[in-house]
Amino acid sequence: MINELIIPRPDDMHLHLREGEMLKVVSQHSASQFGRAIIMPNLKNPIINIELAHIYCDEIKKYTKSYQFEPLMAIYFNEGLNLEELKKIKASSKVIGIKLYPKGVTTNSNKGIESFELGYKIFEMMEELDIPLLIHGEVNDISVDIFDREKIFIEKHLTRVHKEFPKLRIVLEHISTKDATEFVKETSNKIAATITPQHLLYNRNELFLGGFRPHAFCLPVLKREEHRVAVLDAAISGNSKFFLGTDSAPHKRSEKESSCGCAGIYSALNAMEIYAEIFDRNDAIEKLMDFSSKFGADFYKLNQSKEKLKLIRSRNKVPTTIKIDDDEIIPLMAGQEIGWNCSEI
Ligand code: NCD
Ligand code: ZN
Repeated sequence: MINELIIPRPDDMHLHLREGEMLKVVSQHSASQFGRAIIMPNLKNPIINIELAHIYCDEIKKYTKSYQFEPLMAIYFNEGLNLEELKKIKASSKVIGIKLYPKGVTTNSNKGIESFELGYKIFEMMEELDIPLLIHGEVNDISVDIFDREKIFIEKHLTRVHKEFPKLRIVLEHISTKDATEFVKETSNKIAATITPQHLLYNRNELFLGGFRPHAFCLPVLKREEHRVAVLDAAISGNSKFFLGTDSAPHKRSEKESSCGCAGIYSALNAMEIYAEIFDRNDAIEKLMDFSSKFGADFYKLNQSKEKLKLIRSRNKVPTTIKIDDDEIIPLMAGQEIGWNCSEI
């Protein structure tokens, strides 16, 4: 039995850090385990250009300076992106890619794109410059059943974008369906996907366990068991197209437990311990290292970290709440026991 794991410091390839007090608290949770993270740009005023990305990056660094942590910035896809701006993005060592949200599809995405075709000119330049495109892969069409929005997005948009721009590197974020795992496996090595802990742990029953559970609500929404199993199989398969992205997305408790509760699950505090628990429960602990420290770095053409993270098998309990200002966050697996701890080397 493996009781101890020493791995290169992992990368969280999909992370929300927010601003203000929230940023101060949650950035340190991520920095204590991860060496790098791709920082999502969906702030209330989104990060739409390189200047804003650099300012945000410096702010994150200010709060995480006591750790070995490198924020990798993503720019919010918008119609103002022209060749000049894209060249600056390519040249910046702080910016890793561009994140596309279909308009209105999730938290702070109302400045996203209305029609996919409007993006084609920009995709063409990104392909030419080899800038990765990170996609929230759901259609924003409210006439489409919410459980089908990822599948329809792949059929209607992603397949076509990949066909038109075959050399464009695309990351389909936080995949939640069997359809997504199949699409990623079957297409070229220019397509990869991130996987969150919640999509590995739960099916959609979790949302309705004895009553409605707002802290299990995220987008893409949890799906049927067969989809959870497909996503889990992909994560532990050793296929390099699937890698870690927590999509840790903190919201204050009052904003989740409301008549229109926000989508997003907070996992950053115990993220690596929870992934270890999941991989271990599925007899795949030896597959965790590449999933968390190699495959994502390879796809983004980054060197693997030389720093290490140690995980040991020992009892651990996820806190029930995390204090933020005069409110709190309820984390993923709040109050539950897990069998892994991060530890000093
Ligand atoms: C994210 C957030 O809160 O910013 N929410 C979520 O449910 N995952 C946005 C996103 O990644 O969709
Ligand atoms: Zn996200």
